[in-house]
Amino acid sequence: MAVVASAPAKVILFGEHFVVYGEPAIVLAIDKRAYAKAETRNDKLLHVHSTNLNLAVTIENGSFRVDQGDLKEAKMKFEPVRQAAEKVLEKYGENVGLSIEISSTIPVAAGLGSSAAVVASVTAAVGTLLNVEMSKEDIFKITYEAEKYVHGTPSGVDPAIATFGGTLLFQMDTGFKPLEAEIEIPLVVGETGVERSTRVQVEKVRDIRERFPQIVDPIMHAAREISLRAIDAFKENDLETLGSLMNVNHALLYGVGVSDESLEWLVNAARKAGALGAKLTGAGGGGCMIALVRNERLEQVLEAIQRAGGRPFMARKTDEGVRVEQG
Ligand code: MEV
Repeated sequence: MAVVASAPAKVILFGEHFVVYGEPAIVLAIDKRAYAKAETRNDKLLHVHSTNLNLAVTIENGSFRVDQGDLKEAKMKFEPVRQAAEKVLEKYGENVGLSIEISSTIPVAAGLGSSAAVVASVTAAVGTLLNVEMSKEDIFKITYEAEKYVHGTPSGVDPAIATFGGTLLFQMDTGFKPLEAEIEIPLVVGETGVERSTRVQVEKVRDIRERFPQIVDPIMHAAREISLRAIDAFKENDLETLGSLMNVNHALLYGVGVSDESLEWLVNAARKAGALGAKLTGAGGGGCMIALVRNERLEQVLEAIQRAGGRPFMARKTDEGVRVEQG
């Protein structure tokens, strides 16, 4: 028997990085998903294969053997998958062999939460395959623990949105709350094509905060105000205000050093083409930007991002978090 599960990508509308220090973030699940297919094996090995990454490994007692691709990269990408599968096996109470096949439509290392979506889908697929009773809360926790390997000190925002979907207001101390947003948020995502590590980006902010606490603390405070104002703007269906808040949020992220030239090109191009607001999304340093765009300006903004060297696509909100597709 095989079980397939999937989980969505995300964009952070407001509050990335500052969320690591306890400030609120607003995050949206989007219509790109990671898929994991899990099957049992007759041996005790764990086999993981990613069709997109052209990577395959066999793992025996925690030690990796590469079957396809580069060992170092495979370890980086698949260690969280191994950890999640192990956690589910612990709950199952027995060590069985597993084959896991991952395929994903989410750009990798681009700020769209691809690693959390992969781990959440693996956790759900293996859990369902082994008939392990797991709530979404359990899937969130397992995904969060595995994310620590990738990101060091993650806030939990990526695992939360991959698991629960929809639009969430997320804060580390209070957790996540669905944001009842009726409004359609017309978003364009622009991929810079520059891959970067979330861990390194988070460390940059930590360094600058340690060097200049008196300067960075007010920036964090401003970021909190932006998220709080944005909640009202959501309720009032006020796209103009959301756009302005995105622009200010981007300026704060630039201020703490997580934008880069590739992002600045795309953000400026989107604004010039008539976006209501544009900002980097996720960890920055490359990765992706987002632009809030009225329907009548969509074509211009998509074109402008492309001309500025980016890969644009329209992102639609999805309410569906992690789900079992088949099995
Ligand atoms: C990464 O998608 C978002 C960051 O705020 C890190 C985190 O919250 O764990 C940069």
